[in-house]
Amino acid sequence: MTDLIKVKNSGIVTLPRIIDDRDGALCIMNSLQEIPFEIKRVYYINNLDPKSSLRGKHAHRKLRQVIFCINGCFTLTLDDGKTQQEILMREDNVGIILDPMLWHTMKDFSSGCVLLIAASDYYNEADYIRDYDEFIKLAGGGL
Ligand code: TYD
Repeated sequence: MTDLIKVKNSGIVTLPRIIDDRDGALCIMNSLQEIPFEIKRVYYINNLDPKSSLRGKHAHRKLRQVIFCINGCFTLTLDDGKTQQEILMREDNVGIILDPMLWHTMKDFSSGCVLLIAASDYYNEADYIRDYDEFIKLAGGGL
């Protein structure tokens, strides 16, 4: 499964998943254990429009995150400035690491899709790179 990741600054996190038959499933993430950093913030995204929603379209300078799809599915696109790849997010206990300098976009959401993100720090707009040309320059990926 780890050879799934082709870009730099990423990786896979697999959470323990306890299946309780008809009583559902329970997934656990521990700070500094399954999640490779101390979690300071958790946020979730729902109410997406399967036809038109498009999220992300940025990279971070210092923030580390792990993104999960805890219901439904969506497509995560990753770009380290040189290599791009798409990952179909559809397993509720498999997260993708979004380390600094990784441009990421989320699209093609199923109905009822819910994303959950664990982050290493509080929200700080100054940590965002929202301009793709600037990202390419900083990543050293352009010619
Ligand atoms: P953004 O991180 O761009 O969302 P996404 O990557 O999912 O497309 O954030 C969208 C808006 O929400 C932006 O105005 C900043 C705000 N926001 C906060 O105020 N606090 C937060 O913790 C996050 C993640 C976003």
